[in-house]
Amino acid sequence: MNRTYCGSVDNKAINNNLVVNGWVNTRRDHGGVIFIDLRDHTGILQVVFNPDNKKVFEQAQSLRTEYVLEIKGNIKKRLDGTANKEMLTGEVELIADELVILNTSKTPPFKINDEKTNEDLRLQYRYIDLRGSKMQDNLRFRSKLYNIIRNHLSENEFNEIETPILTKPTPEGARDYIVPSRVHKSNFFALPQSPQLFKQMLMISGLDKYFQIAKCFRDEDLRADRQPEFTQLDIECSFYNEEEVMKLSESLMNKIFSSLIQENIKLDYPRMTYKESMNKYGCDKPDLRNPLVLNDITTILTNTEFKVFKDCSNDSKKRIVALNIPGGSQMSRKNIDEYTELVKTFGAKGLAYFKIDNIDDIETGVNSPIKKFLSINEIQNILQIVKPKSGDLIFFSADTLDIVNSSMSSLISRIGKDLDLVSNDFKFLWIIDYPMFEYEKNSNQLTSLHHPFTSPSDDQASNFSDKTLSRAYDLTLNGNEIGGGSVRIHKKSLQMDVFKALNLTNEDIDNKFGFFLEALEYGCPPHAGIAFGLDRIVMILKNLTSIRDTIAFPKTQSSACLLTDAPTEIDSDQLRELSIKINKPK
Ligand code: AMO
Ligand code: AMP
Repeated sequence: MNRTYCGSVDNKAINNNLVVNGWVNTRRDHGGVIFIDLRDHTGILQVVFNPDNKKVFEQAQSLRTEYVLEIKGNIKKRLDGTANKEMLTGEVELIADELVILNTSKTPPFKINDEKTNEDLRLQYRYIDLRGSKMQDNLRFRSKLYNIIRNHLSENEFNEIETPILTKPTPEGARDYIVPSRVHKSNFFALPQSPQLFKQMLMISGLDKYFQIAKCFRDEDLRADRQPEFTQLDIECSFYNEEEVMKLSESLMNKIFSSLIQENIKLDYPRMTYKESMNKYGCDKPDLRNPLVLNDITTILTNTEFKVFKDCSNDSKKRIVALNIPGGSQMSRKNIDEYTELVKTFGAKGLAYFKIDNIDDIETGVNSPIKKFLSINEIQNILQIVKPKSGDLIFFSADTLDIVNSSMSSLISRIGKDLDLVSNDFKFLWIIDYPMFEYEKNSNQLTSLHHPFTSPSDDQASNFSDKTLSRAYDLTLNGNEIGGGSVRIHKKSLQMDVFKALNLTNEDIDNKFGFFLEALEYGCPPHAGIAFGLDRIVMILKNLTSIRDTIAFPKTQSSACLLTDAPTEIDSDQLRELSIKINKPK
């Protein structure tokens, strides 16, 4: 007899004989009758062991949670009053005729589907955690997503090509994971931070349109949306420009959403320049579902008496912003103190505010600890820009660009959540016109904002600075960066100029990228591409708060695997073979 899945048995199966396999979810003894809930990945089926079937009943007495069973039996309607209408299988039960205990189980360290289980314990016993319906659902969703991507791209003439894992460093702004070579003593492979250089070389090879569901490795500080080992959907196309990559990305997103979220869903892909985004939201991945925006008031306060504001108003590396919170004048002192603490974690020195009790009467209707430092004229100018209504509250931040932007973008998302201002929706946004470079902290050394293979907007430019724009674009969704790409440099001379602007010596360039520069000399076509973070996409589509819940075997915040206890020391023979000597930190 073929196996029937537990969760698929409903009223139509009444009086049928069938075989089910699964795990004991729960077992209950009810006055001589034993009930178990048998669980497989599709759901739960109630099984009844009656004492009149003596052999099976005795076997059933030994059953414990998570035992693995095969049961043959007959489906019956449950007794009146015992049905559970919430479940598809809730009106029926399987009367067991035969029972095979395929395996026993130790008592699991936590109950399957118990939401309160500590995450470290879940990760240590991940194979048990994955039995729960939420993780099952996430991983099956992820599998469907991969199918949709593969089908859509192959229908559009893309080739799926694998690139090496043991390779040379590919710079994407993080540290490399390195692997020692036994054969080439004192030499190391690096694990790829992305397949960037290989996909570009595939374009030189005439593969035309490439994609890969690629593992990437980055040794960087972890957060809820970052793993040291994560998965990109990596794409590259020859003779494409930014418009064509964006169009392709949008059609792929439409396909994913209509297949997995809702048919006929209407999605928009507005665009915003990096400059506007930083100005209005203090970050380059604003959540457009959140209505809060920053108003820049830097230039109207150059002559103010308030020293903090005056200093910032006259310094090009600083800014002053005002954030209007509709209805915010109801906020308690305690709330305001909490928000002040939040911005201080980003280095801000304070969080001034105006309470707008009555917008028609500035004298008595606008209340603030900093009011005494500002002239009526200055207050009027601020209100004219911010346009608050009576009952609103305005927060002010004045500091370096970095501190204002990081602290206020974080405040925007915190208040958005606290005041429930964020709609339950999907809002995409393209960020365009990125600068090519930024200055390293406290130095006049340029570094790449994306990676050094991105083309400047003006490909004749040679005087590079932090004002030079690039042909990079990022796709954001609900305040998360879900993808990023660019039109690439395809001429060796321009690539050299960019390396030089990054202050790489000829020797460095040759050692790190000599092979690639040479490849550019053999007929490299213009090309462009993008990579999407698949873990993040699953996280957003499934409304999860961490990408760990999208990955079968993720690492912890400290980049360790609690299940296998990796990383670990290696034995002395292996070290000797690799000519590696460990200098243990004291
Ligand atoms: P980028 O570095 O922007 O671009 O990476 C592309 C996308 O990958 C996701 N991502 C991550 N997801 C989880 N954990 C991480 N540590 C992590 N880092 C990045 C993000 C991001 O948008 N080679 C270029 C792409 C290109 O130019 O075509 C690149 O890797 O969603
Ligand atoms: P102080 O004069 O330092 O007591 O500050 C007066 C008010 O201005 C307090 O509400 C502070 O939180 C606020 N404040 C101080 N420094 C800044 C700043 N850099 N940006 C915004 N508000 C500030």
